[in-house]
Amino acid sequence: MSELHELIENEIKRPSVFVDESVLYPEYIPPVIRHRDEQLKSLVRLFKPVILNPGSTSVKALLVGPIGSGKTVTAAVFGREISRAASSKGLNLMYVHVNCSRSKNLPNILREVKDQLGIPIPDRGLSTQEMLEALLKLLERENIYTIITLDEFDYFIQAASVEDKYTVLRLYDIFKDEVKRINFIFVARGSPTNIWSRLDSITGSYLMKNLITFEPYKSRELLTILKDRVDKAFHIGVVGDEVLDYISKLTGYDTGGDGNARKALAILHAAGKLADKELIEGKASRVTVDHVRMVVTQEYPSMVELLDTLHYLPLHEILILKAIVLSLKESGEDYVSMGVIEKTYRKLCEEVGEEPRGHTKVYMFVLDLKQRNIILTKNSIKGRKGRSTYVGFGMAPLDPLLQRLDLLIKQKLVVR
Ligand SMILES: Nc1ncnc2c1ncn2[C@@H]1O[C@H](COP(=O)(O)OP(=O)(O)OP(=O)(O)O)[C@@H](O)[C@H]1O
Ligand SMILES: [Mg+2]
Repeated sequence: MSELHELIENEIKRPSVFVDESVLYPEYIPPVIRHRDEQLKSLVRLFKPVILNPGSTSVKALLVGPIGSGKTVTAAVFGREISRAASSKGLNLMYVHVNCSRSKNLPNILREVKDQLGIPIPDRGLSTQEMLEALLKLLERENIYTIITLDEFDYFIQAASVEDKYTVLRLYDIFKDEVKRINFIFVARGSPTNIWSRLDSITGSYLMKNLITFEPYKSRELLTILKDRVDKAFHIGVVGDEVLDYISKLTGYDTGGDGNARKALAILHAAGKLADKELIEGKASRVTVDHVRMVVTQEYPSMVELLDTLHYLPLHEILILKAIVLSLKESGEDYVSMGVIEKTYRKLCEEVGEEPRGHTKVYMFVLDLKQRNIILTKNSIKGRKGRSTYVGFGMAPLDPLLQRLDLLIKQKLVVR
């Protein structure tokens, strides 16, 4: 016990390059956001009626842009600020943020909404329609207005039934006589045409009028985003300008990167971690460009992102990911075929006593992993005959990932 006590004390006392590492976590919502004034202004314009004339109309906005372009953080900051503004006018406007890649169908979404609103609606045994009615009734009784962000809406569009999509997108066509207390912000990754092609023409053309687009970040924009965080996350003088310059050029859209702020922050975080580790060993006390280089060659950032998302994947998707990693490891190649992956997957299922999912389901899971940018796929490979899907994994080190996957699989099996 005293050993543990000492361990804790030493850990707390040990010097670190960080003042507050949590500022670099992906879920941290900064007090201000940069370079998104246009998008915030558009949101304010669209949602003005909700404050000026509550209940008169149900506003729907659609935010679209590539990965890491600030869609989620912009919606969250807007939601926080508009509910504050409403509250100062005596209006109870509550902001709710639901991620559709976690809450995949409408009943789950409604459950999440009611949990975040903190309102007591029993959901057992109720149909979706009944849950909705109960929600509307409670909003009415408590005099609450809401803005619900459905983040990663592309997942919902893809997975939901026609009926559920209709219910969400045309809510007040169904509940015609209700006071309009629910407003939506839909957030989707990709391009407007992508989303447009998956909606029916009436909702599509309505939403396109309320479309707010996000461009990938340029390197000078990423530089200010990084600077803001550095000031809060690290001790003064630990991260030099040359480091931030290097990271923002590496990730900036105009300098050859993909303009992804999450990646820029993850690289900074991982480089900080390396410097921190060296500090314990009595070496560096500053983050250097060399740390960044090490991070980038080890593809740490994709690891960081990956570890965040893994938690939300269903057991069999994780088993398939493990099958991919194992097959890559065993073959020593950078891509393996679906056939090999499926064989390994079935073996893994046998080991843990799970019934393997069928071919189509396996393929869907692989597509989902690709969509989440966890894996890479190709349809043909030079020197190999025929066409098949081949799966690869970039440059990330496989062993730490395997350990992590094993742990997750164990946890998920226990929960069952
Ligand atoms: N303008 C900004 N100012 C400050 N931080 C930002 C800004 N844009 C993005 N970030 C930060 O970068 C990370 C990625 O942003 P965000 O999650 O909003 O991207 P996204 O567009 O929703 O990406 P995805 O499509 O992957 O969901 C977050 O940690 C966020 O806080
Ligand atoms: Mg997002």
